[in-house]
Amino acid sequence: MARMAVSVLAILLASSALVAANFNREFDITWGDGRGNIQDNGQLLTLTLDRTSGSGFQSKHEYLFGKIDMQLKLVPGNSAGTVTAYYLSSQGSTHDEIDFEFLGNVTGEPYTLHTNVFTQGQGSREMQFRLWYDPTKEFHTYSVLWNPKHIIFMVDDVPIRDFRNLESKGIAFPKSQPMRLYSSLWNADDWATQGGRVKTDWSHAPFSASYRGFRADACVVAAGGRTRCGASVGTDAATGTGAVAGDWYNQELDLTRQQRMRWVQSKYMIYNYCTDPKRFPQGLPAECSM
Ligand SMILES: *[C@@H]1O[C@H](CO)[C@@H](O)[C@H](O)[C@H]1NC(C)=O
Repeated sequence: MARMAVSVLAILLASSALVAANFNREFDITWGDGRGNIQDNGQLLTLTLDRTSGSGFQSKHEYLFGKIDMQLKLVPGNSAGTVTAYYLSSQGSTHDEIDFEFLGNVTGEPYTLHTNVFTQGQGSREMQFRLWYDPTKEFHTYSVLWNPKHIIFMVDDVPIRDFRNLESKGIAFPKSQPMRLYSSLWNADDWATQGGRVKTDWSHAPFSASYRGFRADACVVAAGGRTRCGASVGTDAATGTGAVAGDWYNQELDLTRQQRMRWVQSKYMIYNYCTDPKRFPQGLPAECSM
């Protein structure tokens, strides 16, 4: 009996640690004139796109490092021309940015997952992937682990990209400009699908993408510019007060996960700026040789 009570308690604790934050508390729908909606008591968010407009949202908080997870289900069917962007960004011309962008396709053809990292306003670090599943059928988790040493992109907890801090080699790394989380669904048929050759088919509109399961174990910039790090910001912000950042703050990929990432890159990466010298007549970016 006592043992059963203990295991029930353990399950309760484990599941409460996984409780997703409330979208109403964490985000503002910033554009789209009613095309973005928060539903299910804050547990689900949908963005839509039609011929008139797309839509988007942004986080209420600004983050300076964090492990940020979101589950997305992308536009199904003929999504050609549509782009679902999901990214962290600071403000201004020397901004930092960490990007996931999902480029739609005609029915039956694969999405492209496009990633990029901007430091001090400078991007051109694209890496693109195929996914190993249909991202429109179910929700999948897309995560950014951003700490002082690494920016690690993950898909269902599988690392696909690791942008390391190489400041000691003179390469800028995002570490002092707080970033907000943004997402939008918009029409980019001038470039997105098969290089812009395939246009959005508006007879399928409205297009819709869904979000749930947002979690941020992050350092949040509080009023007055102080940063507060804590577990699960938003789920229970109170417990975060004055707390130190979690394990994610010092996390890097162990050997097994590095090998996993290399394997994913060898099988699913379809573009890597580091292997595209034509883009860089002056020579490949320095981090490419490290
Ligand atoms: C769409 O499908 C075509 C054909 O399979 C592929 O070449 C292309 O990379 C896919 N993705 C995009 C975004 O165009």
